[in-house]
Amino acid sequence: MANDQWKDIAASGDIEPGSFVSVQLSETESVLLVRTGTELHAWADSCPHVGCPLSAGHLADGVFTCPCHNARFDAATGTNLSPPALDDLARYEVREAQGRVLIGARHEPEFPRPTGSDERTVAIVGGGAGGALAAEQLRREGFAGRIVVITPESGRPYDRVLLSKFYLAGDMGFDDIALRPASFYESQAIELWTGRRATAIDADAKRITLDNGRELAADFIVLATGSRARSLPVPGTNLSGVHLLRSAADAKAIRDDVREAGNVVIIGAGFIGTETAAYLRGRGANVAMVAPESVPFEHAFGKDVGERFAEMHRANGVELHLERQVARIAGGERVEGVELTDDTKLPADVVVIGVGAEPVVDYLDGSGLLENGAVPVDEHLRTRAAGIYAVGDIARVEGAAGAKRVEHWVVAQRHGRQAARSILGADEPLPFAPFFWTRQFETSFGYIGHAPDFDEVRFKGDVKNGKFLEGYFKAGVLAAVGTIGNGKAAIRYGLLLEAGRQISREQFEAGLASLGA
Ligand code: FES
Repeated sequence: MANDQWKDIAASGDIEPGSFVSVQLSETESVLLVRTGTELHAWADSCPHVGCPLSAGHLADGVFTCPCHNARFDAATGTNLSPPALDDLARYEVREAQGRVLIGARHEPEFPRPTGSDERTVAIVGGGAGGALAAEQLRREGFAGRIVVITPESGRPYDRVLLSKFYLAGDMGFDDIALRPASFYESQAIELWTGRRATAIDADAKRITLDNGRELAADFIVLATGSRARSLPVPGTNLSGVHLLRSAADAKAIRDDVREAGNVVIIGAGFIGTETAAYLRGRGANVAMVAPESVPFEHAFGKDVGERFAEMHRANGVELHLERQVARIAGGERVEGVELTDDTKLPADVVVIGVGAEPVVDYLDGSGLLENGAVPVDEHLRTRAAGIYAVGDIARVEGAAGAKRVEHWVVAQRHGRQAARSILGADEPLPFAPFFWTRQFETSFGYIGHAPDFDEVRFKGDVKNGKFLEGYFKAGVLAAVGTIGNGKAAIRYGLLLEAGRQISREQFEAGLASLGA
C-alpha cells in the first residue's frame, strides 16, 4: 500500500481505551487496532515468533502476551518485551477521521544499530538461547563494543526447541530453525567463534581459555553453556544407530538414520522422548517408548496429565513400555534391539536416548564460581565475580523466594536478555514466571510457573477431553499452571504468579474474577 493510500477499516467507537480489535485485511493479513490512553495504534496481528494472532492473547497494563508461547509486546510502541519472539511488531500508519479508523503503509521493524564506539569487550561462552539473546540484547540496548560468542556448534544460533519437533520430522531445514540469518551477525558485528569450547575461566582476570589454547580477556563474561544430554549406564550405548538428542547435528543424524517403517526405540518419556516419538511416528516409523515412570511426564505434570499424553501416544500408534527398565542395547556394530530387565526384547534399527540433561560446567572447575554443579547468581544474574554473569541451565538464581534453576528454552532466552541489561546497568531485573510448552500430535500443552516439587494438583475443565487448566500447589499455594486449550487463563494466572501473588486452592477454584484479574 503506498503511503498516500488510506484504507477505512473500522469505526473509531469500536476501540475503547485499553482495548483492541483485530481487522482482517486479506486472507493472510490482519491488523490489530489498540487504544492505549487516547492514542490509537495499529500493529500486525501476527506474532513475529511463528505468527500466532496476538488478538487471541491477553492485553493487560499496556502489554500484549502472545497466546501461543507467551512472547510479550508493548501495546503502545510494538517493542518486543519478552522472547521467544525476537523482533518488534510490524506497524501500520493509522489515523482517525469523522469517526472512522484509516490505516496506511505498513512498516517492518528494524533492529537498531548501535552508533559510536566503545572499547569494552563482552565475551559470551555458549551460543544457545541465553548466549544468543545476550548478544542481541546488548546491541538492542546500544552497546557498541566488541561482542564475541564462543560456541561448540558449527553454525549460528538456532531454536533448539524445534529439533525434536519439525526439524526431526523433516518439515524444517537449518535455515528455518536458525534464530537469525547469517547476515544479522555480520551486520551487528557479533563475532561467532564456532567449533570452540572454553576449557577454563580465570574469574579474577576475566580471561577465558579455549580448547585450542587461545585466550580471550574481556570486560564482561556471560556464562551460557547450557546442558548436555545424559546417556544411560547400560551396555550398548556406543553402537551405531544409538543417538542422544541435543544439537542440530544430533537431530540430523537421527533424521538421516530413521527409515519409514523402521523400528525406533525411544528411551525416556520426558520432553525429548515424547516429542521424538511423536514426530518420528509422524514420519511413518514404528516407535516404541520405554520409561520407568507409570505415565509420561509423571514427575513434571502429575498422573492425570501424564495419562492424557500416554493415551495420545497409544492412539497414534506408539507402543508404550512403561514402568520398565532397559537392561542393555543389543547388536553387533549396529544396534539390533533393546532388552528390558523383564526380558522383553524390542527390535530396533535406531535408538534415541532421552533421559535428561546435565549442566555443562566442567570448564568452571577451580574458578570459584561453581557450587553443587551450578553457578549461583543473584536476580541480576551476577555471579560472585564482578563482571561475570551466568544464564540459563547452569544458573541457579538466588532470589527472595528461594533458589531456582530452570532448564527451559524461554527462561534461558529471558536470562540472556536480562544479563545484557544488567551489564549495561539496568537497575531492576524484569520479573517473569518461567514458561515452556510442548506440541505433540497437534496438541499443545503450556506451563507457566515453577513447581518442581508440587504436592497437589487441582483441575478446571476436563483432562480426558483435552481442554483444561490445572494448578500445581506446594503447601496450599499455587506455584504453576498447565493447560491444554485454555492458554488465556494460564497467561492471566502467570501474570499473578509473576507479581508474587499467593493464590490458595480456594481462590484457584473460585477463578480469576475472585482474584481481580
Ligand atoms: Fe507468539 Fe510463539 S507465536 S510467542
